[in-house]
Amino acid sequence: MQHHGAFPTTRLRRTRQHAWLRRAVAETVLAPADLVWPLFVHEGKTPVAVPSMPGVERLSIDGVARAAEQAAELGIPAIALFPVVDAALKSDDGRQALDPENLACRTVHAVRQAVGDTVGIICDVALDPYTTHGHDGLLRDGRIVNDETVEVLCRQAVVLAEAGCQVVAPSDMMDGRVGRIRWALDAAGRQDVCILSYAAKYASAFYGPFRDAVGSQQALGTARSLGVGDKQTYQMSPANGDEAIREVALDVAEGADMVMVKPAGTALDIIHRVKREFGLPTFAYQVSGEYSMIQAAAAAGWLDGPKAAFESVLVIKRAGADGILTYFAPEIAKALS
Ligand code: PBG
Repeated sequence: MQHHGAFPTTRLRRTRQHAWLRRAVAETVLAPADLVWPLFVHEGKTPVAVPSMPGVERLSIDGVARAAEQAAELGIPAIALFPVVDAALKSDDGRQALDPENLACRTVHAVRQAVGDTVGIICDVALDPYTTHGHDGLLRDGRIVNDETVEVLCRQAVVLAEAGCQVVAPSDMMDGRVGRIRWALDAAGRQDVCILSYAAKYASAFYGPFRDAVGSQQALGTARSLGVGDKQTYQMSPANGDEAIREVALDVAEGADMVMVKPAGTALDIIHRVKREFGLPTFAYQVSGEYSMIQAAAAAGWLDGPKAAFESVLVIKRAGADGILTYFAPEIAKALS
C-alpha cells in the first residue's frame, strides 16, 4: 500500500460518487429472468386474501392463467404453483394428489392454454396440500414413512407431467425420491420433464404464513396430538451446513437438473456453497415468512417496503442463486422494467 502523506491513494468512495458509476461497477444485477413467481390457486371464482401474507391472494384457476400472462409480459420466466385443496378432498393418504383432474392439474392445463410455452410451470411434489395431517408424506404409527411415500410421489410427479407441467419440484425431503421420480418419469415417456429438487430444505419457522395460505397449518395442528406436529424428521436442522451439501450431492447423483435451497435469507451461506461446489442451476426460495416480515414492517412504517424487498432479493443473487422464488416477483419485475 503506497501512502502519500496521511491518506491512501486507494479511495473506494471514488466509484460510489455518481449514480451512473455505481451502476457501471455493480457486480450483481437483478433481472426479471432471475425471478420465479409462486402462486396459490383455489377452487373459488374470486380471489381471497391471505391474511398473513399482505398483498398475496389465493387465485381462481382463471386468475392464475391471467397472472401467468402478466408474468410473460413482465419477463418472469416461470411460476410455481401451490394448490389450496378443499378440506373435504383431503385424506390420510393424500390420494387427491393422484387425481388427474385435481386442482393443480386443471390449473396447469389452463395456464398452458393461456400462455403456451412462454412461461414455465413449476409444480411441487409433496403431499402436504392433500393430507389431513398436513405432512409431506404418509403417516404410519406416528412416523412419516419414507419409501412408501416415495412411491406415491412418483405417481404424483407423473400425473403432473401428464397435465403439462414441465418442471416437477419435489419439496418433501424424503430420501431417494429424486432417482425414483426420474425413473418413473422416464418410464412414463416423460424424459423431457425437468426435476428441480428442493435439495436443502430446512425445518423452518419461516414457512408459517405459507401453511396458513394452503391450510396445512391447521392440519399439522391435528398431527401435533399424534406427536408429529412438525417436520423435523425429514426437513433439515438449521444448525447444519455440511449436511446440506450431502443432500445436494445425493440429488445431483440421482439426476436432479436443478436444485433449490430454502429458505433463502437464512441460508445465504448454503446457496454460496452449493453454487460453488456443484455449479448446477441453483434456485433459492425466499419463503412466506421472509416476505411477510418485510410487508409487516413496511405496513407499520418501519421499513421502506419496496427497497427492503429489492435488497433482500438482490443479495440472494449475490450469494450465488441463478433463480429466486419470491412473492415480490411481480413488483420487482415492474420496478426493473
Ligand atoms: C410444502 C412446501 C412448503 C413450502 C413450499 N412447499 C411448506 C412446508 O414445507 O411446510 C413453503 C414455502 C413458503 O413458506 O413460502 N412441501
